[in-house]
Amino acid sequence: MYSEAKPRILFTRQEIEATVSQLAVRISKDYQDKNPLLIGILKGSFMFMADLIRLLNFPLEVEFIRLSSYGRGRASAGKIKVVQGLRTPIKGRDVLVIEDIVDTGLTITFLLDYLQKKQPASLKLCALTDKPSRRKIPVTIDYLGFTVPDKFVVGYGLDWDEKFRNLPDICYLEDE
Ligand code: PRP
Repeated sequence: MYSEAKPRILFTRQEIEATVSQLAVRISKDYQDKNPLLIGILKGSFMFMADLIRLLNFPLEVEFIRLSSYGRGRASAGKIKVVQGLRTPIKGRDVLVIEDIVDTGLTITFLLDYLQKKQPASLKLCALTDKPSRRKIPVTIDYLGFTVPDKFVVGYGLDWDEKFRNLPDICYLEDE
């Protein structure tokens, strides 16, 4: 569908840098003395996580979790499971989940529920992008970078069919 598509820029690398810096300021204020555990959801969050934590100048720890959803085409089919779990106990920890995009909300709702059961001291969500037009379940995003339109968004970690993750800008694909 998008195999011939040319990525067009939605947010430039400079805009991303400025926005990630603003998020880092807010997160630093809230987590300065908490030694938080930042949990990135693979694969999409890897670039955002790498840039964000370089701007956080206080003690923190990093974890990644990998989820899969079956029968998904362009969006989650709703059957989500953990394929690579945490190696760090989170009970009593201040946990901040780092996500690249909240679309229908199914993935993050599943994950927050999964993590909440492990009794963290606090659990918040930081998302680089939000596509509210496609939401199926309400989601509270505590720290949000960009709101994106209902287009297929790629780049800066986000993929289409595993491609375009390496683009330094946040782009969208148009099928032509
Ligand atoms: C993407 C994205 C979110 C999820 C959002 O992950 O990283 O985790 O979809 O969609 P939802 O709100 O509709 O559930 P994907 O399964 O494409 O994996 P990836 O991170 O490896 O690209």
